[in-house]
Amino acid sequence: MKVAKENAALAALDFVSDGMVLGLGSGSTAEIFLEKLGDRIAGGLKVSGVQTSERTRQVALEAGIPLLDPDRVEHIDVTVDGADEVDEAFHLIKGGGACLLREKIVAQASAKMIVIVDDRKLVHTLGAFQLPVEVDPFCLGVTARQVYDALLASGCRDGLTTLRQKGAGEGPLVTDGGNYILDCQCQEIPDPAKTADALARIPGVMESGLFVDLADVIVVGEVDHAKVLEIKRDS
Ligand code: A5P
Repeated sequence: MKVAKENAALAALDFVSDGMVLGLGSGSTAEIFLEKLGDRIAGGLKVSGVQTSERTRQVALEAGIPLLDPDRVEHIDVTVDGADEVDEAFHLIKGGGACLLREKIVAQASAKMIVIVDDRKLVHTLGAFQLPVEVDPFCLGVTARQVYDALLASGCRDGLTTLRQKGAGEGPLVTDGGNYILDCQCQEIPDPAKTADALARIPGVMESGLFVDLADVIVVGEVDHAKVLEIKRDS
């Protein structure tokens, strides 16, 4: 599947031009994009980036991509990021790599979000991939119960949540922002906007991995080419 991811990453470069500020996504597909972007920068392209994770910051620096201080950035032209699932309305599940909060901050601040995936990520209905929800560690049990209730009340087929672990015997995984991740077995999320809204009303939830109405372009990599799907949004 590496070649499909590479084809998606290469096709996404068509959306990049001199002078742009780029949101730099996280995950294996986004890292291939960083590598290819680094090659273009070495060839003379002039862009700067904002990372969505510590890991991406390191990979981007190694690839020679100039980074801006995220605290000083006010506008991002284009974000290129991966996804765990993409439905027909371009709604996404993200956060398999535990970077969803920063990914959403950057995507939401971007004029355009390009999602690069291989074709295994395309689904009819979101939810087979466990939905990551980033939560404050304080009163975790209360928040986990509220997340479960919100998932069922918003129409998901299941709501069982598991606290993501760092590794065997290493305790809970802590995100770059100091939070925990609840992985939720929804099975089916029939109304992603309703579920995202229900989760956003829980005080202990920092963000959910449901990206609703954020992606503008989906680049689907296959073994010998990439398909570019675009959605028109009212601005
Ligand atoms: C990181 O938190 C995620 O949102 C990734 O973008 C997503 O998991 C896709 O990663 P891969 O490109 O490695 O499949």
